[in-house]
Parts: sequence; C-alpha cells; structure tokens
Amino acid sequence: MKITELKNAKLRNNKITMVTCYDFWSAKIIANTQVDMILVGDSLAMVMHGYTTTVPTTVELMCLHVQAVAKGAPHKLIVGDMPFLSYRKSLDQTMLAVERLMQSGSHAVKLEGGLGNEEAIKHIVQSGVSVIGHIGLTPQSIHQLGGHKVQGSEDAKANTLLTEAKILEDAGCCALVLECVPENLADRITQELSIPTIGIGAGNKVDGQVLVLQDLLGMDPEFQPKFLRKYLNGFDLLKEAIDQYSAEVKSGAFPSAQHSY
Ligand code: KIV
Repeated sequence: MKITELKNAKLRNNKITMVTCYDFWSAKIIANTQVDMILVGDSLAMVMHGYTTTVPTTVELMCLHVQAVAKGAPHKLIVGDMPFLSYRKSLDQTMLAVERLMQSGSHAVKLEGGLGNEEAIKHIVQSGVSVIGHIGLTPQSIHQLGGHKVQGSEDAKANTLLTEAKILEDAGCCALVLECVPENLADRITQELSIPTIGIGAGNKVDGQVLVLQDLLGMDPEFQPKFLRKYLNGFDLLKEAIDQYSAEVKSGAFPSAQHSY
C-alpha cells in the first residue's frame, strides 16, 4: 500500500491493516505478509527496551529502529513515530526530527494529540511529508492522563475528541489512529472524517486496525488488555524451542553429525 491509496481504501471499504515492527528480523517476516503498513512505534521503548512508558524514546533511538525495519521490509509502507516532545519544542526541531525519521527510511510520520499541533502538522505536510494523527489514549501523555484508560466515555471528552479529529483532518493528516476509545465514538469519528481511522482498542467500526506485533504474537503472557486478540502463544512456543535446544546440547543430541563439519 502507498500513502496515496489510504483514502481510496476507506472509500472502497477495504480495511487497512497495520502492525508495529521495530527490528530487522521481524520486518523480514512482515515483508512476506499481506499487512498493508508498518508502524515503527515509540512503544519500542517498552517492548524492546523494557521501559514502563514511551516517554524515554528519543529521535536517535527511533531512527536506529526505522533503519533496521526499512532494511528488512524495503517494499512496505513504513510510518515512523515522532517521539515524546520531538514536535513540541520549535518548528526547527520538529522539522529536524521529521528529516531524520524520513532519511532513516520512513515514508510518513505519526504524532500524538490534536490541539496545539495544527501548525506543525500543516508545515510538515506542506514540506512534502505525510502525517498520521493519533488521539484518544495518547501514551506520551500517560502521566497527565493518569494511566492506560479508555478515553471519551463522557460526553464532554467525546466531543473534544471529535473536534480534535476534525482539526487533524483539516491540518492535512492522511489518517488517524484512534486508541482506546468507545466503539460508538470511533464509529462517529470514522463517519465524519474523509481520511481513514485506524483503531487500537476502538472497536470494529473504524477503517483499519493496528496492533503491536509482540502483542498479537502473544509474547507477554501477563499482558491481556480487553482489546487484544492473541494469534499465537508466542511466549510458550519460543520458550519450548529454546529449552529444547538447551536440553539437546546438555544431552549431546546437538550438534549431530548432520550439523558438524
Ligand atoms: O507506538 C505505538 O505502538 C503506537 C500504536 C499503539 C498505535 O502508537
């Protein structure tokens, strides 16, 4: 898929699929799938580096991961996440971050929040770079939001999210991630926008879905939010394979003659 095909996908009711990816070897797997686009999300701080939030992510760290993904999946549409505060200091610094993410191999950038980001988004888009918005639960504001909670359950907050969605569309965003919002609100936003909505924890009435790759592969047995369907018990499968290798080394079964020079 190309960025220019996003709007058509919505018009034709073709659901868009997106997964996160942070490294070369999983990018090579995704490169061979039907998934439409890859998000190198700032969630890599948590998934790959063990932080408890996405706040520690830097532009440098994002770029290292984008470069690895771009090498593994050179024909996939890659979206690079703008990390914490990288688009909130000055237009110069925003554009430096965009430049580095794009030169690392992104085809578009994503940033969190609506109000206050309009001018930056307009400038990025006018500079020839596509922007995906992200509202609802915005993990970079996790401390201000008071935790991972569904956003927009009350009427006032729902109306603010609808307003923000329209602001982002008017500013030139080519798509919008809706994270952890009630299904009826996601439906309303999806119907009112001409750009596609991509949901995570936003129900089934959006134009596409995004999941963290390690979540859908079941790599963390303790992580089971309501919105997540695990398509594999990756933790147990990988653990069993590693244990089998260890047992075979200890028993002398590996390496066998077949694996020896
Ligand atoms: O960083 C990320 O993985 C994200 C998705 C959850 C949308 O922003």
